[in-house]
Amino acid sequence: MASTAHDVLTAQFIAEVRRDLALSPKQLQSKYLYDPLGSSLFDAICRLPWYRITRSELRLLSRHAREIVDALGRSGSLDGDGTIVELGCGSGEKLVILAEALQDRGASAHVHLIDISSQALEQTEQRLTRLHFSVVGHQSTYEDGLRTDAAARDRRGRVLVLLLGSNIGNFDPPAAAAFLSRIRAMLAPGDLLLLGADLVKPVDRLLAAYDDPLGVTAAFNMNLLVRINQELGGNFDLARFRHRAIWNAPAGRIEMHLVSGVRQQVRVAAADLDVRFDAGEHIWTESSYKYDPDQLLAMGRQAGFPSSRQWIDPDARFALTLFTA
Ligand code: AVI
Repeated sequence: MASTAHDVLTAQFIAEVRRDLALSPKQLQSKYLYDPLGSSLFDAICRLPWYRITRSELRLLSRHAREIVDALGRSGSLDGDGTIVELGCGSGEKLVILAEALQDRGASAHVHLIDISSQALEQTEQRLTRLHFSVVGHQSTYEDGLRTDAAARDRRGRVLVLLLGSNIGNFDPPAAAAFLSRIRAMLAPGDLLLLGADLVKPVDRLLAAYDDPLGVTAAFNMNLLVRINQELGGNFDLARFRHRAIWNAPAGRIEMHLVSGVRQQVRVAAADLDVRFDAGEHIWTESSYKYDPDQLLAMGRQAGFPSSRQWIDPDARFALTLFTA
């Protein structure tokens, strides 16, 4: 029988859990945080007072939507439709701001969404279809989505790639640089990349954002274990793990960990895996790098984007950078 996309993703999940729990320190990949429950918890995080990335980015987008949309047109005005590719579409709120700005200019765009979460794709598709935009969803990792190159082959007018929400922060810097180069390779001169990235800020604010007093981020992180239990036949006892967020200053990143409270052994049946934990041992589940504005500009230049514009929210310390290929 032919294997479905779901089978392929499950096989990859099993292989990566087996590989990453054998590493020292143990790890789990952050892309697995986004099952339907994890996506809902992430939406809730975006509404928390301590996590300001989403609100700040929405403000910057609303303020500068017209300039961004104008850049999609040749010689300063949109003379037809463009193509928008969003990597990690979330709930689609941000795309709607740009879609409405396009409509105000009497223009439209052909939209490709690439996201690992089926829930995120569905929500965004619904929102945009209501605005009469043509939308194609691709359920995959960003890397696989770019590899298939569907959007670039199907281009109409200029292409605007959106990499928002500080998703770039979840790559380590060499991988982030390589990823921007790969995006650049699928673009033609004049095409655009809009990058939203969180900036370095005082440690207490960073820790409150990733270890919030309501415990939503803790639930988001712990849900990774729930997911392994449900989908891979794991027997993680949640009461024996806790969430921890750490600011790693030399590396410039917030790390999320799951810490084993006791010495224990856990079985993951689908991976035929028995994992031993010492008391206090960590599973590293996510890195969230924080940048300086100039580092972002340099990263874009090195990836082959000769020009850029940058808008910064000084309160939330967040930057939106529009790179032109
Ligand atoms: C999706 N990503 C950019 C979020 C971040 O801030 O790194 C995921 C997240 N992790 C904990 N809170 C939010």
